[in-house]
Amino acid sequence: MDKILSGIKPTGKLTLGNYIGAIKNFSKIQYEGETFLFIADLHALTLPIDPVELSNNSRDICAYYLAAGLDPKHTTIFLQSTVCEHSEMAIILQNYLYMGELSRMTQFKDKSQKMDQNAIGLGLFAYPVLMAGDIVLYDAKRVPVGEDQGQHVEITRDLVKRFNHRYGDVLVMPKAEMVKVGARIMSLSDPTKKMSKSDPKGDIFLSDDLAVMRKKIMSAVTDTGHEVKYDVENKPGISNLMTIYGALKNKSFDEIEKEFEGKGYGDFKRAVADAVVEEMEPFKARYNEVIASGLVDQVLQEGAIRAKAVASKTLERVKRAVGLYNINK
Ligand code: TYM
Repeated sequence: MDKILSGIKPTGKLTLGNYIGAIKNFSKIQYEGETFLFIADLHALTLPIDPVELSNNSRDICAYYLAAGLDPKHTTIFLQSTVCEHSEMAIILQNYLYMGELSRMTQFKDKSQKMDQNAIGLGLFAYPVLMAGDIVLYDAKRVPVGEDQGQHVEITRDLVKRFNHRYGDVLVMPKAEMVKVGARIMSLSDPTKKMSKSDPKGDIFLSDDLAVMRKKIMSAVTDTGHEVKYDVENKPGISNLMTIYGALKNKSFDEIEKEFEGKGYGDFKRAVADAVVEEMEPFKARYNEVIASGLVDQVLQEGAIRAKAVASKTLERVKRAVGLYNINK
């Protein structure tokens, strides 16, 4: 059975983009393999974050995983920082990715450009090393992610190739896997930019009230014209709403175009808002139940034990391969 692994970083509030591009898909594919899903809390430290916010966000992601139907009996759900092998693996793997490669990562360039150039943390630069460690520790072949994380999985593949070339067949080659519709949900206020946790205006947050979600959709930026037609170049706003609608209703763009033929943007936006509310209402109710049940801590404790059992074996294998002396022979 193939191993499947993914994670979400507990910075900011989760968005509809995270839900469509990642969480909803995780729950669909979890039984296709041995699945590991974690909360990438060490990654969250790569940019300044309030400690209380970090810890609350971490709990929330676990609750959202459970609310989406992830089954903790089957899927190992854990916090990255509770499995110390992640940190140790990163220390070893940092020697197999190069500074030139890391400095070309889009996420690093985007984030570091906005910062004081004298205060860019080493962790932000080395982010893909930690992420590569996350992936290889579980021998994951399948890494379901949204489009923005594709480059980090690609650099992990480069690392695996380089490492295995030097030491033999030690690490499993992973592959990024993206949903067909919704791997890149765009901002509602500027549909040429990605919807991200740090963009309060163009985002739908999973924590928003249903009425707020509806309002945000109804006031989403659309394009000139009135035809509901998928055309990212000329109609980025409508195309983004079609992506959201298609992903939630499981409909193709052709089907959506036919459904709204002769109708205006107003009707279409109302239908998108209905679809979002229909999906989010039960999801948010389950999230509240999970938070009230106290299940989160139990799941994360059990998950840490299961994850560690797998991760420690891989780390041992890597240590032996590179020649770290084994005192337990
Ligand atoms: P993060 O927390 O930024 O995002 C979590 C997941 O949501 C996807 N996503 C989107 N999908 C569609 N449209 C959007 N607008 C959108 N925004 C985000 C992301 O692609 C991602 O799948 N580095 C990772 C966390 C991580 C990880 C890993 C993932 C750490 N180690 C190992 C996979 C494997 C991150 O910050 O994702």
